[in-house]
Order: sequence, then structure tokens, then C-alpha cells
Amino acid sequence: MIRFIAAIDRKHGIAKQNVIPWHIPEDEALFDSETKKHGGHVLTGSVTFKVTYLGVPLADRHNYILTRATKPITGARVINDLATFLPEFDNKNLWISGGAGVFQSVLDLGYGDELLITHVDADFGCDRFFPSYEKDFKLAQQSEPREQNGFRFTYSKYVRK
Ligand SMILES: NC(=O)c1ccc[n+]([C@@H]2O[C@H](COP(=O)([O-])OP(=O)(O)OC[C@H]3O[C@@H](n4cnc5c(N)ncnc54)[C@H](OP(=O)(O)O)[C@@H]3O)[C@@H](O)[C@H]2O)c1
Repeated sequence: MIRFIAAIDRKHGIAKQNVIPWHIPEDEALFDSETKKHGGHVLTGSVTFKVTYLGVPLADRHNYILTRATKPITGARVINDLATFLPEFDNKNLWISGGAGVFQSVLDLGYGDELLITHVDADFGCDRFFPSYEKDFKLAQQSEPREQNGFRFTYSKYVRK
């Protein structure tokens, strides 16, 4: 199963000028614990790997970095061809951790079974966006509204229609 995990604002924004414009420690902890589940295989785009993970692979997980570059990355497997990589997970589990380019590329290939989305209830004027998913996915679970650090948010799980 292929699961997306992301935090998005009211306009599907995920980052502004390469920074995620909210700081919600409990959501970061959720990302850490969820992506260790189901075998802990995580696909990440090269930009997110550089600017968000600061070039350090996620601990205790199998890291796959999507890029057109071929240079090896210590502690991660470099993926150049998404279309041959994704079928490796037909009978295994994979997390898609973003960013925008990777979310879009995976959906464009017709992959993605579940979306774990943290909806942050504000508009941060982002310049990177989570793809439109409403046509192909339906809400399966939703938490009560939560608040931390002055940010209001809800955890939602969507499944393919
Ligand atoms: N709010 C959230 O939940 C969340 C989650 C993750 C990331 N983010 C944010 O999103 C921003 C980055 O998003 P982004 O869209 O700019 O970058 P990205 O998706 O992290 O990485 C894009 C890069 O991935 C590679 N790539 C994408 N599709 C490919 C394909 N089909 N084949 C081969 N390589 C491919 C390319 O790497 P090369 O250029 O190396 O060839 C491309 O430049 C960051 O600011 C990060 O903080 C937010």
C-alpha cells in the first residue's frame, strides 16, 4: 500500500520559500511515528531531503530519495526512475513524504492508496502545494480539532474512492 503523509493549509499549501510555515511538534511526532510503521519505507524528493531533512536520512527508516542526479547518498537509496521503483511496492508498504513535486509525480502515475493529511486551519501564502485529491479520495477518519503553538489543526485519513 502506498500512503501519502503531509500537513497542508486551507489552500493545500505545504511550504513557503522552502520553509514549512508552521511549527506543530505533535504533528512532527506523528510524522515520525507513522512513517516508522508498515516497514518504514519512505520516499522523499531531493529538495525536501536538502531543505527540510538538511541532508540527513530519517533515522530508523529505509530512505529513498527521488532525484534525476545519480550521485550516491549515504544512508539512502537514490531513485531516478519512479515508474520502475513504485511497482516494487505492489505487495509492500511505502510512505510518500513529499514535497509537492513528488506527491504530484506519484499521483500522476496512478499510485496512492491512502492520504494522512494534517489540515492546518489557516492560509500561510504558500508557494508549494499538495495536489488536488478530492476527486479520487474520500474521507475515512477525522480527529477532533486540535491546537498547539497557536495553530489549529485536524488529522484526517483519506482512502481511494
Ligand atoms: N507540509 C508538508 O507536509 C511538507 C512535506 C514535504 C515537503 N514539504 C516542503 O515542500 C518543499 C519542497 O517541495 P518541492 O516540490 O519543491 O520539492 P520535492 O518534491 O521535495 O523535490 C523535487 C525534486 O524531486 C525530484 N523529482 C521529482 N519528480 C521526479 C521524477 N518523476 N523523477 C526523478 N526525480 C524527480 C527532482 O530532483 P532533482 O532536482 O534533484 O533532479 C525534483 O527537483 C520544501 O519546502 C519542504 O519543506 C512540506
